[in-house]
Amino acid sequence: MIEIIELIKFDKDSTLPLYVQLYEKLKTLIGDGTLVCDVRLPSIRQLSKELGINRVTVVTAIRELEKDGYVYTKPGSGTFVSSSFIVTDKSMHLQSNLVLDEVYTQEYASLINNGQVSLTENSINFASATPTPDLFPVDDFKVALNEVLERDKGNAFSYQDSQGYYPLRESICRVLGEAMITCNPDDIQIISGAQQGIDIISKALLRQGDYIITESPTYAGAIAVFKSRGVQIADIELFEDGMSLSVLEYTIKKYKPRLLYTIPSFQNPTGYSCSNHKREQLLKLADKYDLYVIEDDYVSDLDFEGKKYITLKSMDKNNRVIFIKSYSKIFMPGLRLGFMIVPPGILGNVIEAKHATDISTSGLIQRAFDLYIRKGFWDKHSQFMYDVYKERYIKTINALDNNLPQNVTYKKPGGGLNLWLSLPPGFHVNKLASLCALKDIVFAPGKIFYSGNSSQKLNNIRLSFASVYVEHIEHGVGILCKTIELMEQKNESYRNLPIL
Ligand SMILES: Cc1ncc(COP(=O)(O)O)c(C=O)c1O
Repeated sequence: MIEIIELIKFDKDSTLPLYVQLYEKLKTLIGDGTLVCDVRLPSIRQLSKELGINRVTVVTAIRELEKDGYVYTKPGSGTFVSSSFIVTDKSMHLQSNLVLDEVYTQEYASLINNGQVSLTENSINFASATPTPDLFPVDDFKVALNEVLERDKGNAFSYQDSQGYYPLRESICRVLGEAMITCNPDDIQIISGAQQGIDIISKALLRQGDYIITESPTYAGAIAVFKSRGVQIADIELFEDGMSLSVLEYTIKKYKPRLLYTIPSFQNPTGYSCSNHKREQLLKLADKYDLYVIEDDYVSDLDFEGKKYITLKSMDKNNRVIFIKSYSKIFMPGLRLGFMIVPPGILGNVIEAKHATDISTSGLIQRAFDLYIRKGFWDKHSQFMYDVYKERYIKTINALDNNLPQNVTYKKPGGGLNLWLSLPPGFHVNKLASLCALKDIVFAPGKIFYSGNSSQKLNNIRLSFASVYVEHIEHGVGILCKTIELMEQKNESYRNLPIL
């Protein structure tokens, strides 16, 4: 507690009464996250003695803090920092949206609401795997949008076919052909983002109590969908080259799931990729046990080291794979656009579920995106994003290689947007997050990517470089690594650490 007291200095020349000064100092320490939720304040006696002020002054300041919701008192135990102050802090809420849009979970929201993780204008944001708005191709999209309005007039605003605007489905098939996936516009379902795709598939195919298999850890947004539908998640530990096939087969036999959800290339959050051999075997199991596989392809195009992973869909001879593609990482997440390739046997159910959800994805956006592809803007922009991300990837890998403490490990994924760091067992990741947030560095704690059923590890963090400018990467990674080292050297609670 001594260090809290050391942080409180009174201004002798101030006209403000001492109790107001103490109130303001403590409020600042709570507001900037130095004192986190549920931390016990020094006792009245201690504060009065160490600060050399009257007890009544301390009591008055604490009473005012309590009245304003910054602290709460437990009779007989003392006074503690409360989290409710965050609710009235509009600026912090505004900033936190930057993270919440991508990794919204109760767990992460509570870290933010407790002031343990906060974003400011100066934050180096390794928590979000979304591109920053300065990378969006606004001018080219405007050209496509204006031309569509001129060309289609009011038709651009009428209801659209639930399956999606046919010319766009044709354009998508052409682009997919270049990625070795052969499909027909009739197999395509346009969706308002991959998140909606996961939800629609669940709605169409799963009933409460059904089982689904997922990797562990996995994309938090998918976990949220499955839980909201009352589906049972059988999660299987993910290794650097994919799930263990024998564990997969055992799990399929045991739980008889309807679906398997996988992110085979540069997985979120780990960056791991399923080997091509395992992909083949996985499809064989899907055939053998009559199972559909959701292939969530959010960044397979970002292959920076020529790994050449083959999509499950391009190997799918027996219509087992539901391929879901997000445009949020390469294009503009707020557009809410993506597509699925759906096996004919379930297409009817899927279109019905899409219709029940939002009738159709915006016709204007679909038409504009179709023209955007046809004009060659898509090819140009995806190459641009590839180059931007590749530079950030190389810079982050180099920074980690130069700074990472010996007992922190990770596997170079070769592509994607995420790196999965394994800290020593028992490492207090929440404390690390709080300390780093004080230094304006944010990242996603690994814990939020587990469905909580099995194989949960608490000592990982996900570093995403999608939103971090190249010139900030070395500095951000340096601070993170230094903080880990200091926490280890001291082997004590972060509150005793010197401020970096
Ligand atoms: C693996 C994965 N799937 C799906 C999504 C959702 O994407 P969209 O913005 O297209 O809904 C995300 C978003 O981060 C993701 O990481």
